[in-house]
Amino acid sequence: MPVTAVVGAQWGDEGKGRVVDYLAQRADLVVRFQGGDNAGHTVVNSVGEFALHMIPSGVFNPETTCVVGAGTVVNPANLLDEMQTLHDAGLALDNLFLARRAHVVLPQHPQLDALAEAARSGDDKIGTTKRGIGPAYADKAARIGIRLGDLTRPAWLERRLRQTLPARNRALAEFGAPPIDADALVAQCLAWGEALRGRIVDTVPLLRDAVRDRKRVLLEGQLGVMRDLDWGIYPFVTSSNPAAGGAYSGAGLPPRAIDTVLGVVKAYSTAVGGGPFPCELTDAAGEQLRAVGKEYGATTGRPRRCGWFDGVSISYAAWLNGFTALAVTKLDVLDGFEEIKLCTGYRLGGEVIDRLPDTADLAHVEPIYETWPGWMTSTRDARTWHELPKAARSYLHRIAELADAPIRYVSVGPGRSELVVLDTYEVSGR
Ligand code: GDP
Ligand code: IMO
Ligand code: MG
Repeated sequence: MPVTAVVGAQWGDEGKGRVVDYLAQRADLVVRFQGGDNAGHTVVNSVGEFALHMIPSGVFNPETTCVVGAGTVVNPANLLDEMQTLHDAGLALDNLFLARRAHVVLPQHPQLDALAEAARSGDDKIGTTKRGIGPAYADKAARIGIRLGDLTRPAWLERRLRQTLPARNRALAEFGAPPIDADALVAQCLAWGEALRGRIVDTVPLLRDAVRDRKRVLLEGQLGVMRDLDWGIYPFVTSSNPAAGGAYSGAGLPPRAIDTVLGVVKAYSTAVGGGPFPCELTDAAGEQLRAVGKEYGATTGRPRRCGWFDGVSISYAAWLNGFTALAVTKLDVLDGFEEIKLCTGYRLGGEVIDRLPDTADLAHVEPIYETWPGWMTSTRDARTWHELPKAARSYLHRIAELADAPIRYVSVGPGRSELVVLDTYEVSGR
């Protein structure tokens, strides 16, 4: 703080929602900076348990202004459903705003996403969430997208929709799907505009004033570095930039405004969807990680692929993001392992490497592991560094060393208070 980017350091689902919910107790502003409702950010607090898809995880603090940032893509129907769920749980949502520059996920986008995914086979499948993320960002880049602000300008909206829809209807036709009716789409978009009008704002003054006044700002990322459009395992990536570089462009801040980059790191690895995942375990240890960690997708319910901690990808993520601190999550999931492995290098065609190779090669690497003794005792009640078992502290030291950043938080359970906070940066990788 004051301006902290909270980013996923691995393949997503590191526990970003959980960390942002905790930090937002003392935040003035939380901005989701990229992605769409492909996100599933789980928050467990006194209000209940929620899988947030689009709404920033700071929403449970009514004093925190929450902004769905310009770098996101928003499905208004799903957003309204999510708002209803939170209303039903007793939240007034007076603190929720939407950037007028954010793009709209239109009905053709999830449809095209699902059709394109169905047309890919075997190892070529990306395993998208089918939320229309790729097609929506493709329209944005092709300059045929509709922005949230457009929904509140009927004449402009209708012109834009009638001008841009034919390209997407041609794409649907290629898959043999029926076209979207322009009149119905215009009416639908106008209705969304009416429903959301009061929340769609220009976020520039909001962010500028917050930074100038040294307010506490959190920038909440979606997914993780390994699925970053530019720096992840292309093409098995999402269509935006979860890495910290995406935070200032997506939220609308100058790069120098960001003081802290908090990398959220799971104490082991998980991934949902396709693409190479070097440390994947298909044995009993993998099953144990999935069962104990309840590793099922928060958005799609798919079983997550599980494996040991990947130190190579963490070193890569650390450099790209410039982590100033780490939040290590789900340490408790390792409580019942007699031995814990940690990957420090890859073997590729007889050569040992400690850098991330290109995607085609990553599929063929063999991880090189160190073996660490487990602690075989519950960490769930630990609230200070010294209450953690010695073996757990040694393992965490190694993670900090590989990520070249000090650990600031260790999460030992999904609930808001199940956290070890290291106020003095007791653990340092430096
Ligand atoms: P996100 O997408 O990065 O916000 O992460 P997800 O919410 O998709 O996945 C993290 C899952 O782990 C959620 O079910 C959380 O409730 C849970 N979780 C977070 N931190 C911890 C922890 O320290 N221990 C345990 N056991 N579960 C945790
Ligand atoms: P959070 O924010 C884990 C994965 C999908 C797929 C790839 C592209 O909860 O960490 P997309 O629908 O974005 O086009 O899918 O990215 N993916 C996620 N994996 N957590 C997520 O979000 C994800 N969002 C997308 O499985 O492989
Ligand atoms: Mg998730």
